Amino acid sequence: MTASQRSRTPESEGMSDPAHVAIIMDGNGRWAKARGLPRVAGHRAGVQALRAAVRAAPDLGIEWLTVYAFSSENWSRPKSEVTDLMGLLKLFIRRDLAELHQNGVRVRVIGDRDGLSSDIRALLEEAEALTCQNRSLNLVIAFNYGGRDEIARAARKIAQAVDAGVIAPEEVTQDAFAEYLDTAGMPDPDLVIRTSGELRLSNFLPWQAAYSEFVFLPCYWPDFSRNELVEAIRTYAGRDRRYGGVPARDVAL
Ligand code: FPP
Repeated sequence: MTASQRSRTPESEGMSDPAHVAIIMDGNGRWAKARGLPRVAGHRAGVQALRAAVRAAPDLGIEWLTVYAFSSENWSRPKSEVTDLMGLLKLFIRRDLAELHQNGVRVRVIGDRDGLSSDIRALLEEAEALTCQNRSLNLVIAFNYGGRDEIARAARKIAQAVDAGVIAPEEVTQDAFAEYLDTAGMPDPDLVIRTSGELRLSNFLPWQAAYSEFVFLPCYWPDFSRNELVEAIRTYAGRDRRYGGVPARDVAL
């Protein structure tokens, strides 16, 4: 059963659902600071908010949930914070994998794995292999991910494929190029949500979000709950997606 075949809850009834929601989970540090806590406490609370979003997503018609957990630029943070974030990813996979699998969640990871330690790479591979047949929700974790880096890596791979005669230069179309991205085979996000009031994309899915709708929320990520997700979907449902065209109702004017 796909998420769109699943019966809807009253709060999502009648909405035009975004099948793919991507989230920039921002504001963990400020959430912690406002409480006089260390930044890691904000990230821990952020993992809780992530769990809640994963549990809520299928009921709201979401089939794909992509989250920005660690960017390729996050290495510039203090070493202790980088260690904390790596530790939280490991803990998340170790503690939550069984529940995710039981709930039919397929885990996928995008980003540059070569830059990660071998124990993290092994955990990510284990999560992907165990859940590869699951269909309730695709949870895509962007880890050591940067959009420009992804595009540069794809360009390198396609140049090698051209060099090897696998593909001709004139066959490098948008669709062919997309097959060399980390997100090959995944739909583009319909809705990108960013918390914490910042109005930036921060190198998150720049290719894939070309026609996405954006919803910026003032709350810090640890305060994000099912209610905020429902609200963002409601805002999305009121948008007019035109993909560079004109609305059908205006065509005859
Ligand atoms: C941005 O907040 C958040 C991050 C850089 C990390 C996001 C990570 C999590 C939600 C938890 C980890 C999740 C997994 C799956 C390991 P910020 O630290 O930039 O906040 P600030 O802008 O208020 O300082």
